[in-house]
Amino acid sequence: RIAGPSVLVLFGVTGDLARKKLLPAIYDLANRGLLPPGFGLVGFARRDWAHQDFAQVAHEAVREHARTPFREDVWRQLSEGMRFVPGELHDDDAFDKLADTVRELDADRGTGGNYAFYLSLPPKLFPTVVTQLKRSGLAESEEHAWRRVVIEKPFGHDLKSAQDLNAVVDDVFPPQSVFRIDHYLGKETVQNLMALRFANTLFEPIWNRSYIDHVQITMAEDIGVGGRAGYYDGIGAARDVIQNHLLQLLALVAMEEPLSFTADAIRAEKEKALSAVELPEDLETATARGQYAAGWQGGASVVGYLEEEGIPSDSTTETYAAIKLGVNTRRWAGVPFYLRTGKRLGRRVTEVALVFQRTANRVFSHTATEEQGANSLVIRVQPDEGVTLRFGSKVPGAAMEVRDVSMDFSYGESFTEASPEAYERLILDVLIGDPPLFPRQEEVELSWRILDPIEEHWVKAGRPEQYESGAWGPKSAHELLARDGRQWRRP
Ligand code: BG6
Repeated sequence: RIAGPSVLVLFGVTGDLARKKLLPAIYDLANRGLLPPGFGLVGFARRDWAHQDFAQVAHEAVREHARTPFREDVWRQLSEGMRFVPGELHDDDAFDKLADTVRELDADRGTGGNYAFYLSLPPKLFPTVVTQLKRSGLAESEEHAWRRVVIEKPFGHDLKSAQDLNAVVDDVFPPQSVFRIDHYLGKETVQNLMALRFANTLFEPIWNRSYIDHVQITMAEDIGVGGRAGYYDGIGAARDVIQNHLLQLLALVAMEEPLSFTADAIRAEKEKALSAVELPEDLETATARGQYAAGWQGGASVVGYLEEEGIPSDSTTETYAAIKLGVNTRRWAGVPFYLRTGKRLGRRVTEVALVFQRTANRVFSHTATEEQGANSLVIRVQPDEGVTLRFGSKVPGAAMEVRDVSMDFSYGESFTEASPEAYERLILDVLIGDPPLFPRQEEVELSWRILDPIEEHWVKAGRPEQYESGAWGPKSAHELLARDGRQWRRP
């Protein structure tokens, strides 16, 4: 799978995402031989840069963040196809200049009239860009060529705004030309959830309510809000990652086997799973919210959320969220799915844990902690990518004592191939036009339908509870599970 001739136009090229992820991913694709010689990259931003300045910034980003080693010849080939257009998004002249630049580059590099527009911008700017793409003629392709638009999450901030946003995009680009990025779907370990379930016979027979007690989906980060105060405040943990990454993980765990590995078949099953999600009646006891206070992390003292630069000192934005959900299908009825995410937690780890029911009778004594004696299958999404199966085993010695042990699969040990960065995979898929890893609008809307009532409840519920940085979240999150006689795993 190699991309064909094409131009990628990048809006928001001076942002964090472009510097840390997108530009390095483009270089890595080139370095792996997955971009054709006929490839061009055009940056657009409100900076007084010449083409060389853009190439210079991209060069620094690549040197700092690319996964693959730097090769002068690859860089030269790539940078020769780079152009920059300065301007404001609402400025017609700037967009006309952009259109001219793209067409000249197209003629120079032989990119076949195929253009992808990557909107690495806050969603409130999407309508302006999309309207400009239409007005300047860039959105329209000649026959045999394509136009695609790539939009980054968050897709709105509730159901209504997501629908409004979609109406704007839909007016200019047909659904099959719209690629919504949820970068979790680009992660190898997330795609592996489907391989694990549907390429094996071992797991599927026990992947249901007859064997599974509950599911825990954790996305913990050690970082704070960093330089993203402007984006994050008012959005919060649930809109930032539960609406998209965590509900996508839930859908992949809960869905039925798709008829084939095509976009339509996969999306249809994910949509069914998301449609079956049920909120518990009492949102007060089924959710928890927190905000990090000062504390210690990695041996350094860190400030609390309210002391971070750019955050109002009375902000009620949550940096931690935990939610209990049900999935009302024959496979899952009665099995709680607990989702949690937070910043400034004990360590960076994302995992999906299926915790199995205990044996009905207890023949052996377990060296007991409460967690022990419950088998679990843990899909380690990151950073230590792999899968762990935990089960009880006899402790060597004269007594019949059972202790929990692990059987581990680790990517690093089993594969010599390094995992590509999620954005590499997704950018390549956009250029190829391969949609299975991109959520459809229906999935986005179903996810907001789940989150909206929770957000509404939280507005009424007042301030989130403070938790110490470096710890594992607020007390209310632990109580949420304790009420059900369960506890969060310590990853
Ligand atoms: C982004 C969120 O989608 O994912 C960030 O906006 C978060 O707040 C990031 O830090 C985490 O991504 P990853 O790939 O490091 O888990």
